[in-house]
Amino acid sequence: MANVTFCAPTLPKDITVYAVAGSKGTLLALAKEKAVPIPFQCQDGECGSCLVKITQLDNKGPKAQALTEREKTTLSVNGKLSKELLARAEVEDFPPAYRLACQYWVPDGDILVEFSGEPGVEIDLRK
Ligand code: FES
Repeated sequence: MANVTFCAPTLPKDITVYAVAGSKGTLLALAKEKAVPIPFQCQDGECGSCLVKITQLDNKGPKAQALTEREKTTLSVNGKLSKELLARAEVEDFPPAYRLACQYWVPDGDILVEFSGEPGVEIDLRK
């Protein structure tokens, strides 16, 4: 079970939805079901338009979730996954912050999902 909070400059306020981990499919599928407007195009890990930043909000420790090969390639090409971060993800199971919503499964835990809300616009990170 998870509370997923979506945050974007284009949203009037943050949107928190409850999700059963694994039962909702990808994060993009959950967003679409809940009418959260994460930009997307290919839905296949190739275009990068569904780029999101994931922040874990609970205290259960970082939860690794394997990157798909397409996600690795697309994030790397877009400068969101360095070789160091990829190695850390693959060797230490440490989750990288940036993911593709169409490739990322809703985890078992509370997360903040930040996205720009506009196709092709970089995420304005919260500090
Ligand atoms: S929609 Fe194209 S990478 Fe996710």
